[in-house]
Order: sequence, then structure tokens, then C-alpha cells
Amino acid sequence: MAMHVELKLVEQDEDGIDLAFRAEVLQGLSEAQKAIPARWFYDMPGSELFEEITRLPEYYPSRVEARLLETHAGEIAELTGPGRVVVEFGSGSSVKTPLLLRAAAASAYVPLDISGEFLRQASRTLAVDFPQLAIIPIEANFMRPVRLPGSVPDAARLGFFPGSTIGNMVPHTAVDLLRSMRETLSGGSQLLIGIDRHKEVDRLIAAYDDRQGVTARFNLNLLQRINRELGGDIPSDRFRHVARWNAEWSRIEMHLEATDDLVFSVSGQSIRMAEGETIHTENSHKYTPDQARLLLQASGWTPIRLWSDPADDFMLILADATEHRSAP
Ligand code: AVI
Repeated sequence: MAMHVELKLVEQDEDGIDLAFRAEVLQGLSEAQKAIPARWFYDMPGSELFEEITRLPEYYPSRVEARLLETHAGEIAELTGPGRVVVEFGSGSSVKTPLLLRAAAASAYVPLDISGEFLRQASRTLAVDFPQLAIIPIEANFMRPVRLPGSVPDAARLGFFPGSTIGNMVPHTAVDLLRSMRETLSGGSQLLIGIDRHKEVDRLIAAYDDRQGVTARFNLNLLQRINRELGGDIPSDRFRHVARWNAEWSRIEMHLEATDDLVFSVSGQSIRMAEGETIHTENSHKYTPDQARLLLQASGWTPIRLWSDPADDFMLILADATEHRSAP
């Protein structure tokens, strides 16, 4: 079966400008510590640069996670059982997906992603390898519960949230998201989630500030995207990419630091930055296994198995939707 439904849940104005993008950029640039939510990295060029990041020697998470999926495919299949509908949150190019779809003998695949163009391309590619599988791509911001269309089969669901994207949220937002995933997937569902582990700071910095400068280009693309889509005139060559460790929050932070005093405009709004001032563009929280389990439990998910690699770099956790009970 080929792809048969496509939903688009993104609001645009009459000029095709993404209203949420404009609102969040203008709000974020007017705050004392300027900040833009990391989800806006992923337009087409940003998504392609991210794919390049996943192949960098310094960026271990993607490789280690793929190996974990391969190594433990049999055990994962035993715990999920066959025929679930796999719902992938932030599917990107879906490179790890075939491993899971095969292992879990999925009955349908529902990729959810904010980048429609990328989603369509990735879904078409996947359809070639899985001609019998129902693929139902949905362009949506999955930070809110998403109502799955009636065309999604009524089988039990398996949420798939790989790549440690959960680390890009502060813990209270991570809890909100995991809860809303539970709502999207409904009772009786499971969640397979990949989470990056806490480790030496030098390796983390190298992973987020690679020698080839791909992560720098990924970060700076956000300014170029603002210029392209929101009529901005930000001089992106007057910014430099910065990756730093925040020990208090146990996270890598990415910033764009102004190398000069600057005045620029976005959607007609004038913005000033002093030399050395930064725009905070991403958090990437790192968790210990105990912290990860607690995060899931606090969000209505009961971890049933945790797999990690021999170097303790990355973990995969399978969790059941916790039954609601009124008694202890
Ligand atoms: C998508 N996300 C989990 C990546 C991360 O590691 O936080 C995004 C990324 N940013 C820089 N490099 C990779």
C-alpha cells in the first residue's frame, strides 16, 4: 500500500508566513537573554545539515542508537509484539525507522514532523522499501497532542522518539511532551525513546562544535532562515557559533554570539545586540539512567527495559503507558 493521507497542521498568514515562527522569533529576540526555540532549526536546509551532523565522527548519538536498535531488535520485538502502529515523533529523514518497522512487524507507520517538505521526501523514500506498509505522514508540531486521522488503523500503538530529541526540552517541557504523546497514542500504547547519557564534557563539546564546522552552519542557518522567511536583514557573518556546558542543568547549550555591536530588523521590528551578546538557540540535556526513568515515570510512562552500549554513551528505553489508578 502506498502513502494515502497527508495532513498539514501548520498555520500560515496570507503571504505564507508561518505565524508561530514569526511570533516566537519576535518574542525571543525581545527578551533580556535572547532565545529562539530549537525546533525552528529544521527547515529544508537545516534538516539536511542535521543529517550531515549525524554522520560526523564527533557526533556519536546517531551511530550508537542505530547499533542499539540493531543489536536488540529481537528483544524489542518480543516486548512490543507484532502489528503495532508505529508513530514516530519528529521523524526527520527516518533513517533508524526501517530497523524498528522490521523488528516490530509494524501494521502502519505514522511519521509526524514539523518540516513538511522533508517529511514528504523521507516518506516517499521509505515507501520504496516498504511497499506493503500503510504510511500516513502528518505535518505537525507534536509539542501538543495530535489527533490521529481515522485512516490510522485501530491497532495498539508504539511511539518512537529516537535521537535524544527529548534532551532538547527543559525537564518540565519534556514532561509535558511525554504526557501529550501518551494522549496522542492513547491507552495500551508503548513508547521507545532514545536518550543521550551524561558523560565527559570534552566529548560533549566536540560533538556540538565539530572540526568541520557543520554544527556551526546548522546553528547559523537559523539566522538565514529568519532572513529568508521573515524578511530579516540579520548579518549572519557577524555571529559565531558557541557550544557550552551548563553543569547546573546538565546540558549543552548552543548560542549565536554577536561579534560586533549590531542593529538589524526582522518583520519590520528593529533589534539591537551588543558585541558578545548571544541568542540562545538550543539546549541538549544529558541524563543518567535513573534520571531518565524518573522523567518517564513522572510523565505517565512505566519503563520496562533499558538498553545501553558498552561505553555507556546512549540509552534506549521501552516504556508502557502507565495505567491510571485511583488507589496506591
Ligand atoms: C535533534 N537533537 C537531538 C540534536 C541534539 O543532539 O541535541 C540536535 C543537534 N544540535 C546540534 N547537534 C545536534
